[in-house]
Amino acid sequence: MSILITGASGSFGRQLAEVLMRKVPASELILVTRNPSALGAFAARGAQVRSGDFDKPQTLPSAFAGAEKMLLISTLAVGPRRQHQHRAAIETAVAAGVKHIAYTSSVGIHPRNPSLAEADHMFTEDLLRRCGTVFTVLRDAQYAEVIATMLAPMALQTGKWIMSAGEGCMAFVSKQDCVASAAAVLTTPGHEGAVYEITGPQLYTFRDAAALAAEIGGRPVEYVSVSHEEKLAFFDAAGIPREYVEGETNSDGTGIWGSEEMVSYERAIRQGYFSICSHHVEMLTGRPAQSLREVFLANLVALKSAASNR
Ligand SMILES: NC(=O)c1ccc[n+]([C@@H]2O[C@H](COP(=O)([O-])OP(=O)(O)OC[C@H]3O[C@@H](n4cnc5c(N)ncnc54)[C@H](OP(=O)(O)O)[C@@H]3O)[C@@H](O)[C@H]2O)c1
Repeated sequence: MSILITGASGSFGRQLAEVLMRKVPASELILVTRNPSALGAFAARGAQVRSGDFDKPQTLPSAFAGAEKMLLISTLAVGPRRQHQHRAAIETAVAAGVKHIAYTSSVGIHPRNPSLAEADHMFTEDLLRRCGTVFTVLRDAQYAEVIATMLAPMALQTGKWIMSAGEGCMAFVSKQDCVASAAAVLTTPGHEGAVYEITGPQLYTFRDAAALAAEIGGRPVEYVSVSHEEKLAFFDAAGIPREYVEGETNSDGTGIWGSEEMVSYERAIRQGYFSICSHHVEMLTGRPAQSLREVFLANLVALKSAASNR
């Protein structure tokens, strides 16, 4: 059974490829990426690494040929471009005879959710429902690693955690659990038509996250609740572009979101759209989802180091 991962050179794609290498023969793994050279190590271990770019749909039919299951990893260009990208991927997969398409969506799918990213996920889920091929949706909550490796260290360094999410909640989920859940969907039967809410085990406000960062980092952190306009101005002052810029990355190599998208995400958190906590990770993987505390502790050195740099 051939399993295809799109956008396979990103952080999620590589972690999933690594997990799948332990579950299926390498030759049954098809890794599609815009940068095949970045996946040379997987090719050397026997995986099929193919070139494919959603912005160049003509590259996709040969890239998808022969795949039976596929994970469509959502891309980064929030807005109409991302919708075109996902449409190209789904239409090509259907034409290529892919029998089952899984998709990394987001929790909080709702027509009135103000997060700019949600419209793309709703659009893509809708396409999947209408494409005529079996599908599974994995709605990932916000990655706990974003909190533990980016936001918490910044807060420990500055002493302030500035958010416009108010007292809204999120059940932060470790990317490892998102990856393990996707691997389960791709390698075990019984997920046809399922929609999974891939969340951590507990809802937190960002005030809770700030308190946890302070406890684990060993320095006080003030939670500063600001308006959305103030948060946008904060991002402007920090030099964050308003919209996604192709190729710009965080220190861990993942793409940087535009500030308007991030503020709209905080607005959605504040309004309660992401206040969802499920047991689907455990249902899929057979073990409890990691807590935010566990993900913080896995990044203890970085957190302590940020606290000592104040
Ligand atoms: N739940 C959350 O908190 C959260 C946070 C951030 C992002 N996300 C979403 O989850 C996805 C995976 O996260 P990540 O950490 O792995 O992000 P990442 O490391 O930045 O990877 C982004 C992925 O998008 C793919 N991509 C970009 N443009 C593409 C195109 N034109 N055609 C095909 N693929 C394209 C890249 O594939 P190649 O470079 O290999 O072609 C890459 O795998 C993100 O893309 C985003 O949609 C979720």
